Amino acid sequence: MSEPVPLAEYLASKPSLKFFFTGGKGGVGKTVCAAGLAYHFAESGEKTLLASLNPVHSLSSLFEQELWGGVIKPVEGVRNLYAIEVDIKDRVEAYKRQLAEKLRWFLKWADIPVKAEPFIEIAATNPAFEESAMFDNMIDIMLKEGENYDKIVFDCAAVANAVRLLGLSKIYDLWLDRMIKSREEALSLRVRLSFRKDKAMEEIRKDPMMRDLMDMRERIKEAKKIFNNPDRTAFFFVTLPLALPISVVKRFIDMVKGFDIPVGGVFVNGVLPKALAMREGAEDYLKNKYMEQEGYMGMIRRDLWPLVRAMIPLYESEIVGVKMIAKLADDMMKWKPGVEI
Ligand SMILES: Nc1ncnc2c1ncn2[C@@H]1O[C@H](COP(=O)(O)OP(=O)(O)OP(=O)(O)O)[C@@H](O)[C@H]1O
Ligand SMILES: [Mg+2]
Repeated sequence: MSEPVPLAEYLASKPSLKFFFTGGKGGVGKTVCAAGLAYHFAESGEKTLLASLNPVHSLSSLFEQELWGGVIKPVEGVRNLYAIEVDIKDRVEAYKRQLAEKLRWFLKWADIPVKAEPFIEIAATNPAFEESAMFDNMIDIMLKEGENYDKIVFDCAAVANAVRLLGLSKIYDLWLDRMIKSREEALSLRVRLSFRKDKAMEEIRKDPMMRDLMDMRERIKEAKKIFNNPDRTAFFFVTLPLALPISVVKRFIDMVKGFDIPVGGVFVNGVLPKALAMREGAEDYLKNKYMEQEGYMGMIRRDLWPLVRAMIPLYESEIVGVKMIAKLADDMMKWKPGVEI
């Protein structure tokens, strides 16, 4: 099996990469790895945006500064670094309002004599609703901010969510094609049945639903061009040296590949350092933990090895503040296969 290409070398060989994603099981270190990557880029002189797509944000507590509010803010203490915690609540509310307007318009337009409210309620409580709002936000950032930043790092929600977000683009596409087609059919029927063809045509040109659908399809097409481009986008998975997160990463790598999303690699986080665990006089507890970890490292070697880009030590405290993020970024960038953690 081939040896992994370490992160520093990997990034140096792909300078055109612009969009980075971190995904993985809950709590494995997605946010800290996204921050570590973003810190590295920013400190190397690249204008960088760190965007949290997690409904539960943690950038503010990680950087110990107020980064919430759904707007891009400069990160104090790190030159060239900006951050945004995407405000999903506002987006979902705006979605609901838009949806309500469209539904009311549509029911009136189609002469359907029912109350719109129950439909709006059903549509808005759909669990996929939040995800599509998040997905829409991500596309927004990619398309609108892509020009303004050299690198954009997205901190995604738990992996299933992240992959669904990305996979949604495929499903959206199919759905939109269907919607546009049936809308076209409905509209052309209306023209055919109409006495005043010119008036009907004018109405069609103004049809807000059709316009929305076309806009959305255009946006998704643009976004997919970026997502599926291995020179622009890389999706990184984070795991701990433990059975469950390793198998989750293994499964999701296949899934992401199925959506043509380029995999950048795997970060193995929270590695108990050998020098600490096996030093003379170390507690049996630590030694046992280390031996257990060796077993999981075997699993990583077997299942993920060529994709590993960095191993990150388990620090003595949680990662908070710019200084610790700097240390993490340094550890991520200096890892090489064969070097003991
Ligand atoms: N290498 C490490 N050493 C010590 N603490 C760590 C390390 N990596 C992460 N942590 C801590 O573990 C916790 C979880 O990390 P993080 O928030 O990055 O995980 P996450 O995958 O983003 O979680 P969530 O799924 O909730 O978004 C945080 O408190 C973080 O500071
Ligand atoms: Mg997180």
